[in-house]
Amino acid sequence: MRKKIVAGNWKMNKDYVGAQQLLTQLLSYTNNNPLPCEVHIAPPSLYAMMAKDLLENGKVTVLTQDVSEHNQGAYTGEISVEMLKSIGVQGSLVGHSERRQFHGETDAHCAVKVKKLLEAGLTPIYCNGETLEQRKSGAHFDVVKNQTEVALFGLSAEEIKKVIIAYEPVWAIGTGETASPEQAQEIHAHIRQLLSQKYGNDVAQEISILYGGSVKPENAKEIFSQKDIDGGLIGGAALKIEDFSKIIEAFG
Ligand code: PGA
Repeated sequence: MRKKIVAGNWKMNKDYVGAQQLLTQLLSYTNNNPLPCEVHIAPPSLYAMMAKDLLENGKVTVLTQDVSEHNQGAYTGEISVEMLKSIGVQGSLVGHSERRQFHGETDAHCAVKVKKLLEAGLTPIYCNGETLEQRKSGAHFDVVKNQTEVALFGLSAEEIKKVIIAYEPVWAIGTGETASPEQAQEIHAHIRQLLSQKYGNDVAQEISILYGGSVKPENAKEIFSQKDIDGGLIGGAALKIEDFSKIIEAFG
């Protein structure tokens, strides 16, 4: 049974007080409302410990937005999987398009990060998706195929079952432009088909594939109702509890 998940990616937003406020609102919301899906958040790493402490009801999974591919040592500015684990962080985003665009991250890097997280018992949310040019030229199916194969297909069946995939077309991230439910569904079905060919249908049916890119309260229900869409990775709308909670309730 695939898990239904709404995950919030805060990106580089909120100062300490703002982060504390949003976490407190999230705690109160999750204490007082039945949750129709799993709720994950990826605040800036600096606030991960505060998030673990404040979200004491354990109803929200705390992730980071990135993790190092190295174990330890002279890697200035990096944070290791073991560090995350030692403060109770449960996983990390891997390969978000902004990491690819601004920090030169490739699928080869993603493959290492995904593997390290899994070895530590943490959950990777592996992000992929095509750029506008790639979609316009009709390359989107091949781009996503290649990304998925390079980053994930070195894993065993047991390992890949623990990965969450987030399809995020780059042209829809932070632009207000959302992929139509049909456009998203066809890529999700494509990814599931690739997983099925490589690992068999039973494994493919266990893997949650989230959609990301301008998900809002107004469009969440229609997107989440698609057959192969198991939830969303939410950027801008995760920064306001009113919006984030409505997106969670889109599963209701
Ligand atoms: P957005 O971001 O919802 O602001 O488009 C999604 C993401 O980058 O994960």
